[in-house]
Amino acid sequence: MQILGIETSCDETAAAVVADGSSILSSVVASQLATHGKYGGVVPELASREHLRAIVPVVRLALEEAGAGFDDLAAIAVTEGPGLVGSLLVGITYAKSLCLARDLPLIGVNHIEGHIHAVILEVGSSIEYPALALVVSGGHTHLFEVREGFVYRLLGKTRDDAAGEAYDKVAKLLGFGYPGGPIIDQLAPHGDPRAVKFTLARMKGNALDFSFSGLKTAVLRWVEHHALSAEIETRRRSQGTSAADFLPLTPQPTLDLLASFQHTVIEELLRRAAVCIEDIGARSAIISGGVASNTGLRDAARAAGLACPVYFPTPALSTDNAAMIAAAAFPKFRAGLVADFTLRAQANLALA
Ligand code: KG4
Ligand code: ZN
Repeated sequence: MQILGIETSCDETAAAVVADGSSILSSVVASQLATHGKYGGVVPELASREHLRAIVPVVRLALEEAGAGFDDLAAIAVTEGPGLVGSLLVGITYAKSLCLARDLPLIGVNHIEGHIHAVILEVGSSIEYPALALVVSGGHTHLFEVREGFVYRLLGKTRDDAAGEAYDKVAKLLGFGYPGGPIIDQLAPHGDPRAVKFTLARMKGNALDFSFSGLKTAVLRWVEHHALSAEIETRRRSQGTSAADFLPLTPQPTLDLLASFQHTVIEELLRRAAVCIEDIGARSAIISGGVASNTGLRDAARAAGLACPVYFPTPALSTDNAAMIAAAAFPKFRAGLVADFTLRAQANLALA
């Protein structure tokens, strides 16, 4: 049973065909990096315009690569939120038109649930429940308990910046390109993670909530104190795009800062994940979302001796894609959870 997934919640236009919720027949992602990179972050109006340009060819290519026609599809799934409302609208409107024209059922998928299914898609049968899911990306830092049948309970979330957003803001502040996560990830191993001592966030109320704004401000203070403006300006002017471009332009103290920043983010994520695993008696843990491609996080999770096995998506499925949306739609379709044409874009859609 084939489902076409469509994902346009942020700055990737993506379409994929997935069979039986577990076999990826195609997965096409058109990145808007070239458009947003020079602004150091996603510009919502430009994102909507780019989605409009890309959506038809991306869907066509996904069907072509899967060797599928509309007659082969059982349903069309689309991200309904959370995300940028103008971006979501492009995917939703196109999905609705296709469903209407081809008489296919429409399924709305929560983007965060999609990230969780990026892992279930690949290693579904290994996951034992209850599971702990840590979804950590540019827009989200959430901890969920996942029970059999995909029942979710929110355990904690960020009160300010998402972890990926902290990476992107720190990278921008220091004159690295956008997105900052992959660049910091590759530069961090060149620095000493214990060189700069950052204070871990202590949360009043729900101790499992996150906060990354204090860490970001601490990095800013460190930068001001160490008078880095000339060095930062050199990196900005270099128009570099990769860690290899930036490495020769980055003195050791800054590499130490990046390593210490990354070390602190990882510690914030994993210490809460460990508490949740104990609290809910998790039998497996899922870490997904763009930041889940971080090599430091993957290594630290493996070395942390958590009380259950930890599963990450392959890097291509960590960042935004539509295969995860089609996969998340499969159990909904089987359960008859089909949407009607009142389905709308919900910028702040919650999963639980
Ligand atoms: O899941 P995603 O593609 O989009 C959202 O749903 O937000 O995640 C993008 C985020 C960006 O903030 C990016 O900097 C971060 O994931 N990211 C990383 C890495 N790769 C992407 N952060 C740390 N290390 C990485 N290797
Ligand atoms: Zn995402």
